[in-house]
Amino acid sequence: DTVDWDPEETGKSGYDHFMLKEIHEQPRALRQCLRGRVGELTGEVDLGDLGDLTPRAVQFVACGTSYHAALYATQLFQQAGIPAQAFLASEYTTSTPPIGDALVVGVTQSGETADTLSALREARRRGARTLAVTNTVGSTAARECDHALYIRAGPEIGVAATKTFASQLAALNLLTLGITSVDDDREVISGLRDLPSAVQEILDDSVAREVAETYRDAESYFFIGRGLNYPVALEGALKMKEITYKHAEGFAAGELKHGPLALVTENTPVFATVTGDDEMARKTIGNVKEVEARDAPVVAVTDGESDVERYADHVLEVPDTHPRVAAVVANVQLQLVAYHTANMLGRSIDKPRNLAKSVTVE
Ligand code: G6P
Repeated sequence: DTVDWDPEETGKSGYDHFMLKEIHEQPRALRQCLRGRVGELTGEVDLGDLGDLTPRAVQFVACGTSYHAALYATQLFQQAGIPAQAFLASEYTTSTPPIGDALVVGVTQSGETADTLSALREARRRGARTLAVTNTVGSTAARECDHALYIRAGPEIGVAATKTFASQLAALNLLTLGITSVDDDREVISGLRDLPSAVQEILDDSVAREVAETYRDAESYFFIGRGLNYPVALEGALKMKEITYKHAEGFAAGELKHGPLALVTENTPVFATVTGDDEMARKTIGNVKEVEARDAPVVAVTDGESDVERYADHVLEVPDTHPRVAAVVANVQLQLVAYHTANMLGRSIDKPRNLAKSVTVE
């Protein structure tokens, strides 16, 4: 007697796709990333000898989803008073930005992306210290860089990065806390501690599937956000195009009126991530009103602090938490929208056409 036993299917632990499994593994992945690195009693971040790095400036190099994590990280460093820039790895070598005393950080899940490895090599050639933020112990990036920070997300099979993105954001928060010291460290740390359960709340309660159902036939999808929610907008759009094969674009909310607004119609749902109730949130709400006036459906991804819900057709809720953490959590809602849309359209979610998990050519 034989039993049908497909190791790939078994590996999905009952989920239809690796991507969905990996989305659901995020609370665990995040706990692993934080484990032992945040002192239970002291509330201090301990990254071993990485804590001794005292860069005057930081340059990030990365591709794809990892580039969005790098964009997020630049804001953390800048808030801590350290000048930081993010470069698309493929543009780094051509633009040869001045290195000065910068630490050059390669953000790469696989540690094998050719463009990122080249950028890191170029940085080292020009005398910079380098750090790999990676998921893969023993990867080329980890071996070649002076330092490595592991994100500990566990293996990711789906081509579209999900849990590794969340873990990159958590690890980059730890990196900032480990090598800088700012006033609200304690609040950030307590926010990070809440992160796994905040993500779990979304996984338990999200209505992303209904939203996906409503807009599955849309021509294009737009994603907007400001500040830390800007990389979230870019990542929301990237996930959508990778796995649904539909046109999707992410914009800094303020740029909408400088061109993209011409594309906004009743057939282009706009996903607006608005967390908190500060000046930034109010400005994004101004942009939401602009798209609403053009009859575009609005999906607000929000913690309910502001009144953005008044202008939205749908709301995807984000638990109330620290703004840094809110961006990570909001992204999970957008992962779910992309997943469910692709699933309803019958796409090859774990292996989208033309894409590879790790791109080893420049
Ligand atoms: C490929 C993958 C993307 C990924 C990018 C960077 O394009 O399809 O999901 O974000 O490579 O990968 P890395 O391993 O360097 O993070």
